Amino acid sequence: MLRLITKYAVAVAALSSLSIASPARLPRAVDVDAFIAAQRPIALQGTLNNIGPNGSLVEGASAGYVVASPSKVNPNYFYTWSRDSALTLKALVDEFILGETSLQQYIEDHVHAQAVLQTVSNPSGTFLPSGKGLGEPKYNVDGTRFNGNWGRPQRDGPALRAIALITYSNWLIANGQTSKAKTVIWPIISNDLSYVGQYWNSTGFDLWEEVSGSSFFTTQAQYRALVEGNTLAEELGVECTGCDQAPQVVCFLQSYWNGEYFVANINTNTIRTGKDANTMLGSISIFDVNASCDSPSIQPCNSRGLSSFKAFVDSFRNASLYPINADIPIDSGIALGRYTEDVYYEGNPWYLITAGAAEYLYDAIAQWKTQEALTIDDTSLAFFQDIYPAARTKTYSSNDTCAEFSHIIDAVHNYADSFVAVVEQYTPANGSLSEQFNKTAPGNPLSAYDLTWSYAAFVTMAERRAGQYPPSWEPSTAVTLPAQCAASSVKGSYVPAFAAGAPNVTASCTSYVQFAVNASTYFGENIYLVGNTTDLGSWDVNNAQPLLASNYTSERPLWYAAIALTAGETIDYGYARQEDCDQPWIFETVNRTLVVPACDETDVEAIRAETNDAWTGPAGSSGGC
Ligand SMILES: *[C@@H]1O[C@H](CO)[C@@H](O)[C@H](O)[C@H]1NC(C)=O
Ligand SMILES: *[C@@H]1O[C@H](CO)[C@@H](O)[C@H](O)[C@H]1NC(C)=O
Ligand SMILES: *[C@@H]1O[C@H](CO)[C@@H](O)[C@H](O)[C@H]1NC(C)=O
Ligand SMILES: *[C@@H]1O[C@H](CO)[C@@H](O)[C@H](O)[C@H]1NC(C)=O
Ligand SMILES: *[C@@H]1O[C@H](CO)[C@@H](O)[C@H](O)[C@H]1NC(C)=O
Ligand SMILES: *[C@@H]1O[C@H](CO)[C@@H](O)[C@H](O)[C@H]1NC(C)=O
Ligand SMILES: *[C@@H]1O[C@H](CO)[C@@H](O)[C@H](O)[C@H]1NC(C)=O
Ligand SMILES: *[C@@H]1O[C@H](CO)[C@@H](O)[C@H](O)[C@H]1NC(C)=O
Ligand SMILES: *[C@@H]1O[C@H](CO)[C@@H](O)[C@H](O)[C@H]1NC(C)=O
Ligand SMILES: *[C@@H]1O[C@H](CO)[C@@H](O)[C@H](O)[C@H]1NC(C)=O
Ligand SMILES: *[C@@H]1O[C@H](CO)[C@@H](O)[C@H](O)[C@H]1NC(C)=O
Ligand SMILES: *[C@@H]1O[C@H](CO)[C@@H](O)[C@H](O)[C@H]1NC(C)=O
Repeated sequence: MLRLITKYAVAVAALSSLSIASPARLPRAVDVDAFIAAQRPIALQGTLNNIGPNGSLVEGASAGYVVASPSKVNPNYFYTWSRDSALTLKALVDEFILGETSLQQYIEDHVHAQAVLQTVSNPSGTFLPSGKGLGEPKYNVDGTRFNGNWGRPQRDGPALRAIALITYSNWLIANGQTSKAKTVIWPIISNDLSYVGQYWNSTGFDLWEEVSGSSFFTTQAQYRALVEGNTLAEELGVECTGCDQAPQVVCFLQSYWNGEYFVANINTNTIRTGKDANTMLGSISIFDVNASCDSPSIQPCNSRGLSSFKAFVDSFRNASLYPINADIPIDSGIALGRYTEDVYYEGNPWYLITAGAAEYLYDAIAQWKTQEALTIDDTSLAFFQDIYPAARTKTYSSNDTCAEFSHIIDAVHNYADSFVAVVEQYTPANGSLSEQFNKTAPGNPLSAYDLTWSYAAFVTMAERRAGQYPPSWEPSTAVTLPAQCAASSVKGSYVPAFAAGAPNVTASCTSYVQFAVNASTYFGENIYLVGNTTDLGSWDVNNAQPLLASNYTSERPLWYAAIALTAGETIDYGYARQEDCDQPWIFETVNRTLVVPACDETDVEAIRAETNDAWTGPAGSSGGC
């Protein structure tokens, strides 16, 4: 076995000695089997280390909460994100079903934690009566609300959580515990499906929390959740509010196609190309080994999906952008980031995306093998020709005498393995997976360390390579797309999941109060609102509500925000300033009181009161940084 680090040098040398005979058939010097055998248990343990209450790296996290990363500074990821949690739990449920029985306690803890979390009021809204609070992307690790500025709402969380819990429910049913699935788990799923049915046709932030619009990844997860939610509801003999939206959701999903690839974000103004890991990650999270490549859910083996995959991967075959991808031939995997315009941490490759590319290809292979056939059409031809130059538009059958079907499968498999080899090359010897690795050699790990999602992504990739597939979810009867897509929504039904431990919250009537304070600040200095209720951070300035400076002028140094508060309650509040160079927080020298006005149920978004405050306390000082 050759040392991996020399792989590309070896591959290139081998290529020239092979001359032009078959550039697609590079020798595979890398022992991907050995790497995966060593790394998979590290990755599984890596997820568990970040889950409360016993996770070794996340002291303080409550039971069942998945922490995104133990990193508390540069960046601070010590929170529980709805998306990362749900994808991690799906991986754990799949591992559990595949035989890791010790994981059941984590799943049970998570069920309880999510039942409680659903009821927590947060800056995206309340649970009752509208369900809007379910769109919150991020909470503190003890399950309390996070008030900081964020891209919210994000509408993939409820769909992904439903998918994970539906998979678990189906296992319970298959194992004689239907009544538990019905009474304990279904109420949580039902709230999430209600949210999907009500809000799928509203904009929200994408999985990278940057773009407000419609996101392919989100729409795809929403479709899956509604379809398998419907099947589960029928099995349990319960009503699914929202599931009837599935045909419209999948109709809408087709509209992301631009003729060459699925554009990641639509209904938004952006100068990006829309080639984004979004679409690839969406398809692997809705993968069904038994589904048809023509399914409108857009499975990994889908022609348009493959064309999108190629467009996305090729966008990173650019040595000016990613120097570590220089000189890698077209039939070999490369390091992949989120999208080429990315500037976060200067824009670098991510482990979960590079591993995700391998998973995508293993998924497609599994589907062709199940179907014993593989159809190449005009849309997917370019993808195949990169790795199998002899590819033509036709259906290759596994029983073809000249064995082309298996040659193509082998080429795709080698291509998939070469992405794993890239992950291997940039994984430290101890197997620790951060969020990113540097696009410039030597490709050191970057950003949050021990990222839970990186580990979960490695586990699911390893499952697929080992021929381990999550349970099927698409009904065998083909979905009929509506003749015309229509905007739609159905009002959700939201009830706390009592049997799983949700508290008995009641429909709180909230009113918006616009807080406005004149406060002169230095450039870089910010003003926050803090008060004695949980929505105002319970006087904990780390959980204060940020105010906006968008109307600030020298004539009127205005900081403001409209905040939903419980109607009728009396609050104590005050302002605090965070200076620009890590100087200590400065608080006002007065406490203010306000009675939140009665709500107007006919216009819940209306601002019912406005303050007119002036900062009372010491001024800030410029740190000159
Ligand atoms: C956490 O530790 C407690 C005490 O040892 C144990 O009862 C519980 O099962 C553990 N939870 C998990 C998820 O392992
Ligand atoms: C709502 O659905 C319609 C029909 O598919 C679509 O044209 C529109 O862009 C969608 N809007 C959002 C925000 O999802
Ligand atoms: C390659 O990346 C560089 C640096 O980001 C960029 O300026 C250039 O346009 C990219 N080339 C292509 C073909 O996209
Ligand atoms: C990546 O590595 C390069 C070269 O060593 C370095 O200049 C750059 O700062 C690193 N990027 C980050 C985000 O640390
Ligand atoms: C090969 O499989 C196809 C279906 O995929 C079938 O139509 C055909 O008859 C089979 N040919 C042979 C030689 O078995
Ligand atoms: C693993 O290795 C990386 C890179 O050398 C290092 O930063 C990290 O602290 C190590 N983790 C552990 C748990 O030893
Ligand atoms: C795929 O379908 C077959 C035949 O119905 C079934 O036996 C198998 O369990 C399904 N695969 C999965 C992963 O559910
Ligand atoms: C929840 O509280 C309301 C009144 O506050 C009460 O009517 C209802 O019975 C309670 N439900 C449960 C399940 O405890
Ligand atoms: C906040 O303070 C007011 C008194 O000004 C009090 O009436 C109210 O109960 C307090 N709220 C909480 C949640 O402590
Ligand atoms: C901020 O400015 C916008 C645009 O001028 C205006 O519509 C809005 O009412 C202002 N908000 C506040 C709180 O003054
Ligand atoms: C305002 O009330 C909080 C909570 O009681 C207290 O910690 C703080 O010192 C008070 N501030 C002033 C200026 O009285
Ligand atoms: C805040 O500034 C505006 C504009 O100068 C002024 O009209 C208003 O009275 C000020 N508010 C307070 C409480 O001083």
